[in-house]
Amino acid sequence: MIVDLTDDEARAALPLKWGTVEPGVVPGWVAEMDYALAPPLVDALTAAVARGTTGYPPFGDGGIGAAFAAYAGRHWSWQPPEDATAVVGDVIGGIRLAIETLCPPGPVVVPLPCYPPFRDIVALTGRELVTVEVDPDAEDAALDLGAVEDAFRAGARTLLLCNPHNPLGRVASRTELADLAALAERYDARVVADEIHGPLVLPGATFTPYLSVDPRGILVTSPSKTFNTAGLHTAHVTALDPADQARLRGVPLPQNHAYSPLGMLAARVAWTDCDAWNAALVARLDDQRRLLTRLLADRFPAARMRPLQATYLAWLDLRAYAVDDPAAAALAHGVRLSPGGDYHQGLTGHVRMNVATSPERLGLMVDRLAAALG
Ligand SMILES: Cc1ncc(COP(=O)(O)O)c(C=O)c1O
Repeated sequence: MIVDLTDDEARAALPLKWGTVEPGVVPGWVAEMDYALAPPLVDALTAAVARGTTGYPPFGDGGIGAAFAAYAGRHWSWQPPEDATAVVGDVIGGIRLAIETLCPPGPVVVPLPCYPPFRDIVALTGRELVTVEVDPDAEDAALDLGAVEDAFRAGARTLLLCNPHNPLGRVASRTELADLAALAERYDARVVADEIHGPLVLPGATFTPYLSVDPRGILVTSPSKTFNTAGLHTAHVTALDPADQARLRGVPLPQNHAYSPLGMLAARVAWTDCDAWNAALVARLDDQRRLLTRLLADRFPAARMRPLQATYLAWLDLRAYAVDDPAAAALAHGVRLSPGGDYHQGLTGHVRMNVATSPERLGLMVDRLAAALG
């Protein structure tokens, strides 16, 4: 059910991921997948384009709240009310809207490493950024709740949570999330949970939607990472308090208008008609994870990979090979990976590798990285 794109097809489908590398270079950087779209999406989008559905999006959520609630109920045994969701242009824009509209004034806590736009979005809201670091040598990359409490005590009132985590590939436990929720409540802080990787939890891990343990939390998500639809620009924000929902919907149009009718259609179809494809994708990513683990053990046993519990983004600690910038070295050998320092400034010797490709390309990436590390 998961169809690998050829290099030419991938170059046509993914202009950023493939269009920014020289021919012959394997792109294992930005979080997009080298797989054909799920057939229900192709059918729905093709028919919509044939109908000329390229006008402005409608007011309202176009049924996305109900479709997402049903998906969450089927997959995670948790279901927000159907009318708790507002559509936004993308997850990062949704996080910005959530901070500006729903979060009390005060600094924003961002755990590191983080998806780099988290830092930029905090700056754009004019709020102070407070970082809390995961020690790269820690056995478990759990959130440091002691450091989070220090930040709340010092005045921070918002925390950006990424669960499942990009780039660590980690899934937080229910207990850990409940402890965070208790801390946020004690300090009257809000947690904005980016759960874009929620449908990409791999066998062996269990995903807990943050709002299922914290009704004051704010969820921002999108089907775009799971279904490769980032360019359609549609995501959504869910808040359980009707007053919060009213605030989200009440913003002036220019503050939230960057979503598309094709993206709204894709979101509805993805959350409704693509469960079988989603399951096949998770099975394929599980195979890729197993293959990468084996290749790493064979080719560079001193590499340390964080357990990949979710996402298709493997976090590799290559410090044992004493190459400060392994992504730059890898590019010189024909594979583009994401430098660890992009996610945790000043961190050397790490890369993020996107494994959502064919087994052959994954093998090439590892071969070339091994050559780069000498
Ligand atoms: C954790 C996380 N949030 C957000 C995004 C981007 O989402 P969007 O393009 O909808 O802003 C990504 C993309 O990789 C991501 O990994």
